[in-house]
Amino acid sequence: MRFSELRKIKQEAPRPEPVNPARSAPAPVREKEKAVEPSLPEKQTPPPEPPAPAPVRPEIQESAKQSTGSTPKSRREARALSRPTEAPFREQDLKAREVYSRILDLSGSFLKAIDQPYTEKYEAIMAACGLVIETLRTNGVLLNYTVYSTAEDYLRGHTANTTIMSLAMGLEAGFGDSELRLLGFCAMAHDIGMTEYASLYNRPDRLGKNEFAEMSLHAEAGVAKLGRIVDLDYKIKDRASHIVLQTHERADGSGYPDRLSDEELDPLAQIISIADAYEAMTHPRAWRNAVNAPDAIKELVEKEGRGFNAKAVKALISAVSIYPPGSLVQLSSKEIARVIRVSRGFLSKPLVEILLDPAFNQINPQLLDLFEHPLTSIDRTVNFSELERRNPKCAARLEMSRWWVEW
Ligand SMILES: [Fe+2]
Repeated sequence: MRFSELRKIKQEAPRPEPVNPARSAPAPVREKEKAVEPSLPEKQTPPPEPPAPAPVRPEIQESAKQSTGSTPKSRREARALSRPTEAPFREQDLKAREVYSRILDLSGSFLKAIDQPYTEKYEAIMAACGLVIETLRTNGVLLNYTVYSTAEDYLRGHTANTTIMSLAMGLEAGFGDSELRLLGFCAMAHDIGMTEYASLYNRPDRLGKNEFAEMSLHAEAGVAKLGRIVDLDYKIKDRASHIVLQTHERADGSGYPDRLSDEELDPLAQIISIADAYEAMTHPRAWRNAVNAPDAIKELVEKEGRGFNAKAVKALISAVSIYPPGSLVQLSSKEIARVIRVSRGFLSKPLVEILLDPAFNQINPQLLDLFEHPLTSIDRTVNFSELERRNPKCAARLEMSRWWVEW
């Protein structure tokens, strides 16, 4: 579905009620916060308005109480006790939105500044990467925001998302702080060579062989542009240049520009490379729709990572799980839900928001933490085309909610 089509749908469809928003931010799981009236927070610019929280199923409270007993009675309970305590979802979501908005702003200003003869963005990017790293350590909800696309220029959202995903993967892979910051900087810079090819990447049809070859030159163009960043530390410039140049290579030698193989590639380049590909697959482009996130993960795993390094594939799965944020799933209760927070270390036990009953009829959104609710599990993923067929209004609302714009 294209952004232009969504505008039409929006004009035709009734505006969603605040109590039942397209992209609901669910209520925290804590008992005391259940009493808080659902309300929209103060409007921020540029982020879209965060929607109202969803209520929490009562059985979650019971389950949570059981799992906090003094002596673990089972392996599952023992693992639950060792899981770090998460802040309430609502609190995490507001903080994550603020951080995402900052990264998006920086991504946009960097992509503009890099087309000037000189720019001073290195320190700002390093500081922003530090903020993302610290946020990801305690607030996995930031990863949810990488489902957004930017309508006016996809490159802005793509760059921000690839940076956050790369850092989430770097954390899972156990990189140290300075390596993580370099990873973030290179992810932010990996497509700076693309700004010269806007007429090609914004075209509504697929590129031909010659056009693709022309656009592939953006890898070298990006390295040349690194020289314009006057505050880039000269000690790391050489390595940063290698990493940026290698982010379009593949471990099986099928990438560009130099068709390097696995052992020749910098590990940071391999992380950015798969984050870049996964982000691109799961977001719409002018010439194609987005791939469902679980299908993208499946494809990366089953096709041996599409030429990616096995450790990088593992880091991706550890970071976004097999049901990444935004995935639509059918629960064992047959209800339809959307994944809204990955549980670190527990790939099939995310926090979900139940949106539809088993017949795909809309219900008031409800939160369910599958980690704390052992009687419910994920039966299967729901293809977006199935949702479009069985509840087109819900499908349209979910699609609209993926665009980071002010309506
Ligand atoms: Fe990219």
